Amino acid sequence: MIIKSLELMDFRNYEALNIQFGSGINILYGDNAQGKTNILEAIFLSATTKSHRGTKDKDIIRFGAEEGHIRLHLLNSENVESRIDIHIRKSKTKGIAIDGVKLKKATELLGKLNVVLFSPEDLDIIKGGPGERRRFTDMELCQLDDFYIYNLNNYNKIVNQRNNLLKDLYFNPSLKETIGIWDSQLVSYGSKVIERRQSFVDQLNDVIGPVHEKLSGGRESLRIIYDPNVSIENFEKELSASTDKDIKSKMTNVGPHRDDFIFMIGDLDVRRFGSQGQQRTAALSLKLAEIDIVKKLANDTPVLLLDDVLSELDTGRQNFLLDSIGDVQTIVTCTGLEEFVNGRLKIDKVFEISNGTLVDSK
Ligand SMILES: Nc1ncnc2c1ncn2[C@@H]1O[C@H](COP(=O)(O)OP(=O)(O)O)[C@@H](O)[C@H]1O
Ligand SMILES: [Mg+2]
Repeated sequence: MIIKSLELMDFRNYEALNIQFGSGINILYGDNAQGKTNILEAIFLSATTKSHRGTKDKDIIRFGAEEGHIRLHLLNSENVESRIDIHIRKSKTKGIAIDGVKLKKATELLGKLNVVLFSPEDLDIIKGGPGERRRFTDMELCQLDDFYIYNLNNYNKIVNQRNNLLKDLYFNPSLKETIGIWDSQLVSYGSKVIERRQSFVDQLNDVIGPVHEKLSGGRESLRIIYDPNVSIENFEKELSASTDKDIKSKMTNVGPHRDDFIFMIGDLDVRRFGSQGQQRTAALSLKLAEIDIVKKLANDTPVLLLDDVLSELDTGRQNFLLDSIGDVQTIVTCTGLEEFVNGRLKIDKVFEISNGTLVDSK
């Protein structure tokens, strides 16, 4: 899959931008705060309907403007071209169209464009909190699996409604009987989330082992263990046993919204006992495994977006990352061009970005 061009209007600090990408490695360079990440954000949004920074729509629109637009042309592996249009509005939901046909639901966009985004925060995914690791899993699965989005959205809705009820119970204890209505739905959607997360971890383990072995020079073997808060078998029982605790704490304490994922190098829990180098290498392996998984599940190569990560890695890991890119279209941001021109990178196109404008391209 290749992104041919991206047009922005009143998106972040771009009043108007039109950029034509090459099919290989593309470099966006410029000083800090000029708008490089904003371009990757627009691409990420075109793939997932959401900003990877978690920004609300109204804050993505250029300051002072009423609405923003993204237009992206892509070419899939069968050489079929298509166009994604996104219309960002202040108080209404986004309007999205594929080839001029308006989508009924934003989620219909998922799968049209597949990207793997790698930003410096991802290097902390192992040492961060469980929420970070769930976010990674959910973002990936939501790009790849419509059923997962459906089940996860419903599950999250029900957790919220159940939590609201738990708060209301404080003032109105007679509502306690109604909690069972939420519990059965929570277990039903939640079990599907647990099941898919388990199979995702199995799929990841099929590819991450060899990737990490290479990355660590054959010294280490990496494996991910899914650590669900509760098993499907015990979900109903543990949830109902937790009712009194839930009422006291005014929140739902049992369910996959509390899941975690454990990264093991041999017998070592990398989050708790690994060195920073091991944690970062494991994170890099995870990202590289993600490319493989998208290739398999989506039957197409994803577009790789590297946001300022190369400067965070040592030369050995940089080289490994760049060597493993292969035939994947890649868009890299950086502040200095020199770090790339050491002859080890076949660069397709270079764009200089300054203050929300494309000042030079070659
Ligand atoms: N809604 C917005 N309207 C206008 N400018 C914005 C908006 N949101 C962010 N910016 C500007 O975008 C710039 C940051 O862009 P970014 O892509 O993160 O920079 P970098 O080149 O460092 O990756 C900042 O100058 C910020 O003020
Ligand atoms: Mg940036």
